[in-house]
Amino acid sequence: MIRRCLESDFEATYIIVNEAAQAYRGVIPTDCWSEPYMARDELRDEIRDGVVFWWYEENGDLLGVMGIQDVKDVSLIRHAYVRSTNQNHGVGSKLLSHLRSLTSRPTLIGTWKDATWAVRFYINHGFKLVSKETKDHLLREYWAALPWPNNQRVAFARKTAQRLLRRPRTIASRGQIRQRTSFPA
Ligand SMILES: CC(C)(COP(=O)(O)OP(=O)(O)OC[C@H]1O[C@@H](n2cnc3c(N)ncnc32)[C@H](O)[C@@H]1OP(=O)(O)O)[C@@H](O)C(=O)NCCC(=O)NCCS
Repeated sequence: MIRRCLESDFEATYIIVNEAAQAYRGVIPTDCWSEPYMARDELRDEIRDGVVFWWYEENGDLLGVMGIQDVKDVSLIRHAYVRSTNQNHGVGSKLLSHLRSLTSRPTLIGTWKDATWAVRFYINHGFKLVSKETKDHLLREYWAALPWPNNQRVAFARKTAQRLLRRPRTIASRGQIRQRTSFPA
């Protein structure tokens, strides 16, 4: 069953995020890693800033969480975490499909470039890796200030997000992206 997180789910969400994030340990640069990976205050800030978390539950057990955040004219998929013992059993796919059904906006995702499993997961779900210059633009435009260097991140967009890049004003606003840049296939 997929359901929206309640306030009372905060602690369990915090635990599963940090348990699943152990996958990054030793994979992402050490200066990007912290223990816990996401502190309670950070998680609280994310919720306050509009990230809505959804849970995947089976027989009352929380198996995974995933967040969605509307920012300006897009939806961001944020903080996708499936309990390590339950990964590769379709939980993340179901959560992602559910979140995508909640929005008609262009949908963007960012993750660590070294998290090859996550990169494959999003590509398998029809997201396209965007070019470096597009990523830099999207990270600045839609993500709140991230504590990590952008060169460690990759970004993905669904086809529908291509229209973002057809808006000269948005794209040219920081003088970084050519007006007719499109996502690479
Ligand atoms: C990335 C993540 C959220 C994906 O969730 P998941 O539940 O493991 O993903 P799914 O099981 O739906 O799909 C992953 C793979 O399992 C396969 N799969 C799906 N259902 C399956 C099933 N019933 N049995 C076996 N394999 C299955 C999928 O085909 C997919 O294959 P791929 O490796 O070729 O992409 C999860 O692995 C995770 O939490 N990883 C650690 C943290 C992380 O990297 N988060 C991303 C943050 S942006």
